[in-house]
Amino acid sequence: MKHIQIALDGPAGAGKSTIAKLVAKDLGFTYIDTGAMYRAVTLKAMKLGIDMNNEADYEFLYSTQFQFEDGHLFMDGIDVSNHVRSTEISNNVSLVSSFLSVREQLVMIQQEMAQKVSVVMDGRDIGFKVLPDADFKFFLTASIEERATRRHQDNLKRNIHSNIEQLKEEIARRDYLDTTREHSPLRPATDALIVDTSHMSIAE
Ligand code: DC
Repeated sequence: MKHIQIALDGPAGAGKSTIAKLVAKDLGFTYIDTGAMYRAVTLKAMKLGIDMNNEADYEFLYSTQFQFEDGHLFMDGIDVSNHVRSTEISNNVSLVSSFLSVREQLVMIQQEMAQKVSVVMDGRDIGFKVLPDADFKFFLTASIEERATRRHQDNLKRNIHSNIEQLKEEIARRDYLDTTREHSPLRPATDALIVDTSHMSIAE
């Protein structure tokens, strides 16, 4: 049976994960949050105490297991979904996701996941790299103000303390790093539908 693939790309806080979760639930598809995978690699790198600037130190990835269940990410059998949202991880994940060998390994795992089930996959490079033949491709954007406010509200729900002005700076910095990195910089696939969600409700 052919599995359906829905690709959802865009910058941090544009509403990707909220929409992806709802659509996946509605359609009975598996939601794959690829940002959480890059965050989980960052978490493991920090726990192992490797030199995070040294790409060769990330070879632990080849023996790391990732699995999604009900929108939760399990790394090596442990649910890391909440843990990977910390500010410390947010501030280091751009570095980790800039390494080609890290990207290649995660892209391969993501492609394998999409072979087995129908997926709604969100990230930065899904439409043009991970699932170039996806059945549906969307690129969600929103203003920095709106995205910082959303992330702040998200954090509140997760009991993570944050400050909107600081979030704006962090988001702008991450946008810059994500769109200017050498490997798979954030951009819409040429055949993606671009949606500005700044003034849209979740239902819209
Ligand atoms: O969506 P997020 O904020 O959880 O993503 C965390 C970081 O991971 C983000 O700064 C860019 C990177 N990322 C990526 O490079 N490619 C993806 N497919 C998903 C995320």
